[in-house]
Amino acid sequence: MKDFKRTLITTALPYANGPVHIGHLAGVYVPADIYARYLRLRGEEVLLIGGSDEHGVPITIKARKEGVTPQDIVDRYHNIIKDSFKEFGISFDVYGRTTSETHRRTASDFFRRLYDKGEFVEKTSLQLYDEQAQQFLADRYVTGTCPHCGNPSAYGDQCEACGTSLNATDLIDPRSTITGSVPVLRETTHFYLPLDKWQKPLEKWILDDHQEWKTNVYGQCKSWLDMGLQPRAVSRDLDWGIPVPVDGNEGKVLYVWFDAPIGYISNTIDLVGDDYTKWWKDPETRMLHFIGKDNIVFHCIVFPAMLMADGSFNLPDNVPANEFLNLEDDKISTSRNWAVWLHEYLRDFPGKQDVLRYVLTANAPETKDNNFTWKDFQARNNSELVAILGNFVNRAIVLTHKYFDGIVPAAGELTEAETSLIEDVKKLKEELTEALDTFHFREALRLAMDMARAGNKYLQETEPWKVAKTDMARTATILNTAIQMCANLSIAFEPFLPFMSAKLVKMLGEDHITWDMLGCFDLVPAGAELGEPELLFEKIEDSTVEAQVQKLLDTKKANEEAAWKPAPVKEDCSFEDFEKLDIRVGKILECSKVKKSKKLLRFLIDDGMEKRTILSGIAQSYPDPEALVGKEVCFIANFPPRVMMGIESQGMIMSAVNPDGTLTLISPSAEVRPGAQVG
Ligand code: MF3
Ligand code: ZN
Repeated sequence: MKDFKRTLITTALPYANGPVHIGHLAGVYVPADIYARYLRLRGEEVLLIGGSDEHGVPITIKARKEGVTPQDIVDRYHNIIKDSFKEFGISFDVYGRTTSETHRRTASDFFRRLYDKGEFVEKTSLQLYDEQAQQFLADRYVTGTCPHCGNPSAYGDQCEACGTSLNATDLIDPRSTITGSVPVLRETTHFYLPLDKWQKPLEKWILDDHQEWKTNVYGQCKSWLDMGLQPRAVSRDLDWGIPVPVDGNEGKVLYVWFDAPIGYISNTIDLVGDDYTKWWKDPETRMLHFIGKDNIVFHCIVFPAMLMADGSFNLPDNVPANEFLNLEDDKISTSRNWAVWLHEYLRDFPGKQDVLRYVLTANAPETKDNNFTWKDFQARNNSELVAILGNFVNRAIVLTHKYFDGIVPAAGELTEAETSLIEDVKKLKEELTEALDTFHFREALRLAMDMARAGNKYLQETEPWKVAKTDMARTATILNTAIQMCANLSIAFEPFLPFMSAKLVKMLGEDHITWDMLGCFDLVPAGAELGEPELLFEKIEDSTVEAQVQKLLDTKKANEEAAWKPAPVKEDCSFEDFEKLDIRVGKILECSKVKKSKKLLRFLIDDGMEKRTILSGIAQSYPDPEALVGKEVCFIANFPPRVMMGIESQGMIMSAVNPDGTLTLISPSAEVRPGAQVG
């Protein structure tokens, strides 16, 4: 690692077209916050930069759907997102937005500088144009038939049925989603950043000089570079974005991925003004980008190429990108509402921000995709936060109140138990520091928890509650040590669990904490008065997590219903074929469950002639079969009898299949005579 004086940490700017969820927190914001807090404890000069990404086509689509302006959309979500981050203790020094005036000016000037230096090439191509709406159509604004799988409602950028990425001009029978009209091809000219020109410098910078990057990041970069870089369009025909600052380009804006990363610069300017050059241009500043894996190419190749083209900015020193977090074994998805939204978590689990921070860090998708489950959430809270960390701190403080009225007693001579504890803590500190320095936050959190485990083990071995019966001097030494241990935990956990740490600092009456203090056992002086013991964590009950799981099951069901489409019509059937079926109406005389069968109901039907028994596999759709007695249903009267579970079934009762797989009996719309034929 290079020598540096200060660290600029950026976090991917989330799109302001929806709230943020646990995937965002786990992949980007919690790790970045842990690292920023750790550096601050070390006394480093550091900035944590965040903000909303407020341009791009999806925002305009959402606005159009809701009949509001794109500005309305971003105003709404920028504030929701900003509040969620604040509530979770993400310690941004600035949280800006890309619709700000500073950003418009900064991005516009950046583009213009590159243009003036001749860093762009202009190219003309054919794009789909909606003559009725008089505008070019972004890929997302075109639907049509997928040339690969025949799906009739593929989007211009991707077919969601077969997953293929497309160009809008590949679609068969394209339609504009704005007016429904058939788009025409029209020529348009755009600015391209010739990435091929930066191929060699990028190869040297990443493949030779940054072999220490995480393997997932290095690997993705290498595969892009191996394929050979191509020029990339950096302007778009769109009415939402930053206007291209070159005469004769009315109606064109900067491509969202051109302006968004410049947002890191504008937000720094909003915070420190002209001093921003110290953070962006001084070679003694180190820059880190925290992002998710879908952003790697933009942060390791495109943005660095932009910075190289400008020539006056630093390049990032590291890009510790994470993989994805899944939720209950399924991909998190905004459009399918498959997520734990942060604003909803805050409502359902008030005051438990640290619990989520803990679980997401312990399970962080650092090297591979990972899974969040509510069961794991509960288990980690109950058996780690409550049983290990909370339990240790609580015992130390409660016992000090009990035996010393909450006044920290002076330690006497240390025994082997104390010296070995102190040694353990010092060793753990070294490992913890190393893990944090190398962005191994899961490992770091485990080591911090090991410190709490060591504390519990110490109390278990020294048993101050027994010693107090005979030896108050020895009890004083033990509890002094336990309180020093609490102070160590308030430091070790601060980057991970800042709310817990603040509470603990207050209870212990520490006036400030630093990373240097970690490993010291004289942090709380004898004679200091402790605050009242407060529980740091509380048990989470089964019913609480079951309610969350139920909410997800409801979402799944709603999605299935929304996605339901009638099955395709079967091949032709002649009238004679149809006439062979004898469909009739019958009245239900009896209905009951078939013993030992989950699915079968046994019906006794009045068919106008005699009674007949019919078995039907609909028990799961009708949990109360008695209630069906008296209803009329349609059945097929001329199927050959069939024996199931030792009962002969004389026909088949007809029912409709619902999207969720449940069945609904088919009945006549008014009462008819049992035995009446249907045809
Ligand atoms: N909005 C993008 C996303 O959510 C991230 C933009 S990061 C920035 O994927 F660098 F462009 F700001
Ligand atoms: Zn397809």
